[in-house]
Amino acid sequence: MTTSPNLLPIHNRFDISFSHGKGVYLYSKDKQYLDFGAGIAVNALGHCHPKIVEALTKQAQKLWHVSNIYNVDELNKFAEKLTNATFADYVFFCNSGAESLECAVKTMRRYFYSKNQPQKNRIITFSGAFHGRTIAAISAAAKKKYLEGFEPALDGFDNVEFGNIEAVKKEITDKTAGILIEPIQGEEGIRPCTQEFLQQLRQICDEKGLLLGFDEVQCGYGRTGCLYAYQYYNVIPDIVATAKAIGGGFPLGACLIKKEAGQYMTAGTHGTTYGGNPLAMAVADAVLDEILSEGFLENVQKAGKLLKSELQKLQQEFPQIIQEVRGFGLMLGIKINDQIANTKIVQKFIDNQLLTIPAGENVVRILPPLIIGENHIEEAIRKIRSALKIT
Ligand SMILES: Cc1ncc(COP(=O)(O)O)c(C=O)c1O
Repeated sequence: MTTSPNLLPIHNRFDISFSHGKGVYLYSKDKQYLDFGAGIAVNALGHCHPKIVEALTKQAQKLWHVSNIYNVDELNKFAEKLTNATFADYVFFCNSGAESLECAVKTMRRYFYSKNQPQKNRIITFSGAFHGRTIAAISAAAKKKYLEGFEPALDGFDNVEFGNIEAVKKEITDKTAGILIEPIQGEEGIRPCTQEFLQQLRQICDEKGLLLGFDEVQCGYGRTGCLYAYQYYNVIPDIVATAKAIGGGFPLGACLIKKEAGQYMTAGTHGTTYGGNPLAMAVADAVLDEILSEGFLENVQKAGKLLKSELQKLQQEFPQIIQEVRGFGLMLGIKINDQIANTKIVQKFIDNQLLTIPAGENVVRILPPLIIGENHIEEAIRKIRSALKIT
């Protein structure tokens, strides 16, 4: 079926649709596709994982939505489980990545407001960042392409060069409240921070009393082989925005916050109708159990290493097409020679029944479900090789 003319035409879509999914495969009417895009890092457990289907259907027969003006048992239970697994003391649940960032930004501002320093309301962000599509998120990322036609941008963000610690130091003033960064930039083409850079940001925040926020919407929730990328980097932030994989395909976002940073987000300062509804919480609970089950994250690390080394071999085989293999864990990118559009390569992969995701810097993102095995990696490499042979 082609795209409906009734849809707001904001997406460039590949001409393909799916009837169902199972494990790491998606199915169109007549073909099976190996899904190495996972709905842009969402389907961490693949499609229709039996444990999430069970959690969803069981909960669907009990209670879907109840207002946050009441106690919600499923919400209390999952809040405890998620904070126990992370640095956080508090969590706020919402429905998307952009909303989790909104909470992060508000938490930073509210913190200094409540400490009688309302002038400290500016946040340092980075070139190449992507934080979602709300006005605050596009203002934070400050990318022309996303802001065009939607200005004026919100004030309060100072965007500096990604990875440049001197630029960060120069930008800090007595109005700075915090720093917000993706430990691995996803949309811009899989650009990981160095550990040193994140450590330096932590150190600066500690010295100046600023809050450090990580946007882990894409890189979090198992993709690096740790539950969160901050654990991989061993740098503890004050705030983490998380979404995508946390619901395994059910819309869910969360903002994880240390007690010190979150203590001023009191009753009436923020809110949500749907965030933390029983259906989302039941699903997320099952997803987290699976991700934290024995051997799961080790498998991500193992699979990530194998996949990266196989992609590097393909780079040697096709140096005229692949310039670089980026990333780690199961957050990988192949940088395509600028003479060939990455979307053309993604289409070639689709023709070979392999799904991947285009990104900035002419990169093709490889973001498979976290449950892949060696057999899926072999199949993907075979498909990529045969697609590149005829490019
Ligand atoms: C790093 C990052 N932050 C925020 C977002 C926005 O998430 P959502 O589309 O769920 O609002 C995305 C989405 O791709 C993302 O990759």
